[in-house]
Amino acid sequence: MLESKRLKFVAYEKEDLALDEKWMTSADVKKFFFANPYFLPEPERDEKMWDHWMEEARGKWCIYKAVVKKTGQPIGMCGFSIEDEASTIPGRYELWLYIGETAELEKGYGTEIIQTLTRALFDFYAAHTVMLCYHAYNIRGKRCYEKCGFKYEARLREHTFWEGSWHDMEVRSITRPEYERLKRKGVY
Ligand SMILES: CC(C)(COP(=O)(O)OP(=O)(O)OC[C@H]1O[C@@H](n2cnc3c(N)ncnc32)[C@H](O)[C@@H]1OP(=O)(O)O)[C@@H](O)C(=O)NCCC(=O)NCCS
Repeated sequence: MLESKRLKFVAYEKEDLALDEKWMTSADVKKFFFANPYFLPEPERDEKMWDHWMEEARGKWCIYKAVVKKTGQPIGMCGFSIEDEASTIPGRYELWLYIGETAELEKGYGTEIIQTLTRALFDFYAAHTVMLCYHAYNIRGKRCYEKCGFKYEARLREHTFWEGSWHDMEVRSITRPEYERLKRKGVY
């Protein structure tokens, strides 16, 4: 099982849909992760779609629930997907995450999740590049990704309409040589 110092990463199951949807509608996750003001949880529809989604996900995405090892409390969701399916060697992966429990924000869990997934992608999935996207107004997320060695790569201009105006999306990434360098420095 994938784990870090304080967390274990449990495969997302159908039973997690309700928790995920509850978190998705919380203020922080809505604004910083999803930024879709029209999102309404539809657990019945999602349960019906489950088998179809799992079929779609096979070999392309991994989704985990992050659980505090000591207490068994789930605190958020995270995962990754192959970004360049058409490539003969799938070298580019995208990772994503959110802490759903407001009381658990800014305790270093986000950093721990990114480091664990990034390490897994380079060490076990033979990734060459790991990327992530975030809304440019997500300063906390940006700081967290910078700390983990993700470098600025691109800006998708006026990507998301939120609270009455358009906002840019930023892309950051880390390449294998950068990861190896940070590993030698003890960041990973
Ligand atoms: C983004 C997220 C994953 C980060 O995880 P986290 O556990 O809260 O963050 P960490 O504690 O690991 O690190 C946060 C860093 O941002 C810093 N920070 C927080 N608010 C900040 C602000 N307004 N300006 C600058 N830095 C800020 C913290 O001080 C900390 O840096 P430090 O360790 O150097 O002091 C989490 O906050 C979250 O899930 N937010 C809601 C949804 C979301 O944004 N998901 C990501 C979408 S791309």
